[in-house]
Amino acid sequence: MKALIVYYSWTGNTKTVADAVSSVTGGKLRPLEEKHKRRKRSGFLGAAFGALVGARSVLLNPDYDTSEYEMVFIGTPVWAMHPAPAINSFLRYASLQGKSVYLFTTNASGKPQRTLESLTKKIRKKGGTLVGSFSIRTDRNLKVDPKKALEFVREWAKERKLQKTGR
Ligand SMILES: Cc1cc2nc3c(=O)[nH]c(=O)nc-3n(C[C@H](O)[C@H](O)[C@H](O)COP(=O)(O)O)c2cc1C
Repeated sequence: MKALIVYYSWTGNTKTVADAVSSVTGGKLRPLEEKHKRRKRSGFLGAAFGALVGARSVLLNPDYDTSEYEMVFIGTPVWAMHPAPAINSFLRYASLQGKSVYLFTTNASGKPQRTLESLTKKIRKKGGTLVGSFSIRTDRNLKVDPKKALEFVREWAKERKLQKTGR
């Protein structure tokens, strides 16, 4: 089974986890990039508001094609308890019909539940089957440690008997 790992990351944590998922599953990474760059500090409010109202962002060179893959991982930071707008854009245009979908989030609090629930609804609407999810919490400096992320994902995949796939 071929795996695709679609993710959005503003400050690098979700990328760290996506890299770990790719290393463990052998899946192909597909980072989503926004056409309009967000400003590091002043962009915070706009980012939070956009996520809160379920906005979509304009993606740079978007690729919505999932046809080659049976498994699709979708990773997002939690923003104002919601998925990031780039992920909303991907989910608006990509087909997940017949796909096994895994979700992952990174977040500063231990409460990603609302984000996972809202994504689960969208995935079902697009015909996907959610088969698993996990969340990784940042440390006090709002960072995810790459080694810990890799250990966590390894263990998580082992428990689910997920095998390394081709790209
Ligand atoms: C605009 C914004 C809103 C956030 N809102 C939340 C939130 O509601 N709950 C939470 O646990 N973390 C929140 N965070 C923290 C991020 O989820 C966390 O730092 C995440 O790992 C960032 O991922 P990234 O580095 O891939 O962009 C927020 C961060 C930003 C920038």
